[in-house]
Amino acid sequence: MVETDAFIEEAVEEIRSTIGDRNAVIALSGGVDSSVAAALAHEAIGEQLVPVYVDTGLMRKGETEQIRETFSFMERLQIVSAQERFLDALAGITDPEEKRHVIGEQFIREFEREARESDADFLVQGTIYPDRIESEGNIKSHHNVGGLPDVVDFEGIVEPVRDLYKDEVRDVARALGLEAVVAERMPFPGPGLAVRIVGEVTESKLETAREATAIVEDELEPYEPWQAFAAVLGKATGVKGDNRVHGHVVAVRSVESRDGMTARAQELDWDVLQRIQSRITGTIPNVARVLYDVTHKPPATIEYE
Ligand code: XMP
Repeated sequence: MVETDAFIEEAVEEIRSTIGDRNAVIALSGGVDSSVAAALAHEAIGEQLVPVYVDTGLMRKGETEQIRETFSFMERLQIVSAQERFLDALAGITDPEEKRHVIGEQFIREFEREARESDADFLVQGTIYPDRIESEGNIKSHHNVGGLPDVVDFEGIVEPVRDLYKDEVRDVARALGLEAVVAERMPFPGPGLAVRIVGEVTESKLETAREATAIVEDELEPYEPWQAFAAVLGKATGVKGDNRVHGHVVAVRSVESRDGMTARAQELDWDVLQRIQSRITGTIPNVARVLYDVTHKPPATIEYE
């Protein structure tokens, strides 16, 4: 705990001396990393910080409302409603890397506009240690790292949690008094629900992934997974009443991990798996079947795309 307090003190001091009396902008994602980076920066420079949250429409259930509430103490919080623009940009795209690329580009466009208006000289980012490692190894195009700095001519980039692992970021979040929903919430990828939809992102698949993920998170919270969520894989046949239907196939994934670089599929009781299945098929009309993913990382990744 002493170490965490010392870290906070040093980080705040470093941000303050780097940014001085100028403005900085940060892209808030709702995840713990950018939240902690924003809270440290706000502690350091207060109203000089412009936190920008882009609602991509690819967020979890209730996430935007949660952000609005949690960060209402930040005077210059900007919430950008960009759901339609993201869906339009993603229409017809099925290749996973292209999807990530389109989301990254669209995100930059939205963020760029806000950053210009904020008159910021500095960019604050919530990059953590494993992000840097994965990006260097080029395992996947990672939209938290490497994309944003070209956007506006920033004088500098400040990455206050760059040397921390996720569990250390959570310790800092708790010490900063960030609400449990932020400090304890499972990691969520930058490209959001789009990487939990195999193939084209449509409104119907998004809604299915969002509702099913809320059920999975709710049921599995007591098992304390690193991440638990639902993905939409494709379509298959089922029966509803007297009719055969062609509905979505939903995969449930729950993994244990320290840093996301490797992971183990969680061993779950049949009862909880059945409860998840019946809640998903019972409340989301276009789901035909529910699968549980037993693959570790490697050979699988945690997300689907
Ligand atoms: P994978 O699927 O590669 O994911 O095993 C490892 C961890 O990284 C998260 N993830 C991302 N996080 N931007 C992020 O901020 C991304 O583009 C991204 N892609 C995956 C994933 O949720 C898991 O925790």
